[in-house]
Amino acid sequence: MKTVFAVFGDPIEHSMSPKMHNAAFTYMGMDCEYHAFRVGRDSLHDALIGAKAMGFGGVNLTVPLKEEALNIVDADPLAARIGAVNTVDPGDGMRGYNTDGIGAKRALADAGVDVANARVLIVGAGGAARAISFQFANDSANITIANRTEKRACDLARDVSSVGTAHGTGLANLKDLIAQADILVNTTTLGMHPNTDQTIATSDDMHPDLTVFDIIYNPLETRLLKEAKIAGATAVNGVMMLVYQGAEAFRIWNGVEPPVDVMRDAVLEALGAQKP
Ligand code: ATR
Repeated sequence: MKTVFAVFGDPIEHSMSPKMHNAAFTYMGMDCEYHAFRVGRDSLHDALIGAKAMGFGGVNLTVPLKEEALNIVDADPLAARIGAVNTVDPGDGMRGYNTDGIGAKRALADAGVDVANARVLIVGAGGAARAISFQFANDSANITIANRTEKRACDLARDVSSVGTAHGTGLANLKDLIAQADILVNTTTLGMHPNTDQTIATSDDMHPDLTVFDIIYNPLETRLLKEAKIAGATAVNGVMMLVYQGAEAFRIWNGVEPPVDVMRDAVLEALGAQKP
C-alpha cells in the first residue's frame, strides 16, 4: 500500500511541494504519494492527529500553520527557538522541525558561499527572516537585521542573541549597512510577482565582493538580483532554498539521501523555467 505524505496550508493551490516530492519518490522507486490539503489553523490539530492515525509518512506545514503547530507537535530545539514548524514526522512522536534556515544555508553553500563568520545583513523581520537568522547565528554568522518596522528587527535580534551575534535596526542606513556586509539577504516581498520593479537596493548600493541572496523564486531573477549582477556581485535566487528545505524534510522522513537535482528540476519545470 502506498504511503501518503502531505502539505497542509491555506491557501495551498500553488504549493510546489507535491511536484517536488512526487518527482523524488518516482526517481527513488518509492511507493509513496504526496498531496496538498487545504487546512486552516482551527483544523490543524485534528488534521495532524488524522494524519498520524492514517499512517502518513510525513507532513509539511505552510502559511498560516507554522506557528500554531508549536502547540501541537513536539518541536525540536531549533524549531522551538524559531517559533515555527514546517516539517512534521507523525510516526516519530509527532516531532516537529524547521528546515527553512538549513535550506537557505545549503542554497548559499551551493553558490560557494559559507555563512560562518560572514557579516550577514538580513532585510525583513517576518517568519522567513526568523528561520534564516537563527540558523545563520547558529552557524557563527555575524547578523544585522534591518526592517521597515525597526522594533520588529530589534525584537528578533534580541531573540537571536541567545544563540549568536545579532543586531537590529531600521532601513534608514541601508546603503552603509550593505557596504559593511558580505551577504545581503532579502526576506521581504519587495520584487515578488507582480511587483517586479520593486527592490530593497540598487547596484550603486552594492560592491563586487557582496553575495546577494533573494529568497523570492517568482520571478527567478528579481530586480534586486539584476542590480547585483550590474554591481558585479554574486546573485543567488530562492529556488535552491525551496528545494533544500524540501530535501531536508525528505531526509528526516525517509532517512535516505534526497535526490536534490531531481527535486530542483521538478520545481524549475513547475515554474516554467529552463533546466540549467
Ligand atoms: P514572511 O513570514 O513570509 O517572512 P511577513 O511576516 O509578512 O512574511 O514579513 C514580510 C516582511 O517584509 C516584513 O519584514 C515587512 O516589514 P514590516 O515588518 O515593516 O511590515 C517587509 N515588507 C513588506 N513590504 C515592505 C515594503 N514595502 N518595504 C519594506 N519592507 C516591507
